[in-house]
Amino acid sequence: MTFNSIGLDTKQTKAIAEDLNVLLANFQIYYQNLRGIHWNIKGKRFFDLHVKFEELYTDANVKVDEIAERILTLGATPLHTFEDYTKSAKVPVGKNISQDEKAVRLIVDSLKELLQIEREILDASGEANDEGTNSMMSDFITEQEKTVWMMKAWLDESI
Ligand SMILES: [Fe+2]
Repeated sequence: MTFNSIGLDTKQTKAIAEDLNVLLANFQIYYQNLRGIHWNIKGKRFFDLHVKFEELYTDANVKVDEIAERILTLGATPLHTFEDYTKSAKVPVGKNISQDEKAVRLIVDSLKELLQIEREILDASGEANDEGTNSMMSDFITEQEKTVWMMKAWLDESI
């Protein structure tokens, strides 16, 4: 077993960084979904939702940077091209969505995928004693689960 400069197992760290790149790619798709619905939303709830989607993409933008910098901290290179992002896509791509319920459902469906990727990284980082990645996943999961609850409440649906 070999250890890197931050005291983590080299092999496990490499695998975690690869998983974080999958998360990064999918977060960029989620981010772009949010930009799309922020721009294209129409109807009587425009003013509410236009602002809410901006709040969400601003938050996603911060998280994208945190994920990329964690990948660098683990000694790997963050994916940064659209080509690589689409290859790792699990989050659904929303195109020309202007109807409010479809827009909110896109958020729920996107977060469901992100949460699944994050839980896998949570497990792997726990096993590797990678507290930095583990706590980041833990924070993301808690926040996103709350967002899903709110979006489902808006849709008048239970979790
Ligand atoms: Fe805007």
